[in-house]
Amino acid sequence: MAPRKLAAGNWKMNGDLAALDQIDALARDHAAPGCDVLICPPAVLIHPMAARVSGLADTIAVGGQDCHAAASGAHTGDISAVQLKDAGASHVILGHSERRTDHGETDAEVTAKAAAAHRAGLVAIICVGESEAQRDAGETLDVIAAQLAGSIPEGATARNTVIAYEPIWAIGTGRTPTNDQIAEVHQLMRDRLTARFADGDQMSLLYGGSVKPGNAAEIFAIAHVNGALVGGASLKASDFGPIVSALG
Ligand code: G3P
Repeated sequence: MAPRKLAAGNWKMNGDLAALDQIDALARDHAAPGCDVLICPPAVLIHPMAARVSGLADTIAVGGQDCHAAASGAHTGDISAVQLKDAGASHVILGHSERRTDHGETDAEVTAKAAAAHRAGLVAIICVGESEAQRDAGETLDVIAAQLAGSIPEGATARNTVIAYEPIWAIGTGRTPTNDQIAEVHQLMRDRLTARFADGDQMSLLYGGSVKPGNAAEIFAIAHVNGALVGGASLKASDFGPIVSALG
């Protein structure tokens, strides 16, 4: 079986209730997408977005942007995977570089969060990516291999885990790696996942970092790129729609 194709939008700390209209437009223009479509809004919008989507033939899935490793407890300000699931989420992004930088998240913490997501029945989208300094130093493949080895729990399968390669220097900058650079990292990820997991050859691998309508088709044509994790261009249906079309 080939890996599932996924166009995932990460709204980060953007959007409000009025922005849910974008979901209507996306569903209207892409009533039968040829790929899975996911939007991960801020936590306060997950439930209203899930409610809106369920009135739209369920062609769009809703996800969180982080979760705590515990199912419940005294963790002020945090949200558990169980709560995300209860609010209507099917996926959760974990280990995004902005979480790793802003909140000091380690590979071990990402692994624990992903295991919690799996226990709650969520698909974990686990992010990896090198800094510009690491790329310039020729360390990219070592960094990605180490993050993969350290951030994915045992029990991960193609059904409950997606890996997103997001070079930190490409996020929100308008800069993207060359096709060869993306291909090199995705081949490494495919090799490592296949070596470690029984169905690692079927895990979906996303590219993220300045994906736009204008470059999506070219990126999706690269071997082992099964979709995208899109930030800025996922906020408007007029931008995200063409990316969905390029994949599906
Ligand atoms: O998670 C997606 C993100 O980090 C990429 O952001 O704005 O470069 O598409 P952007």
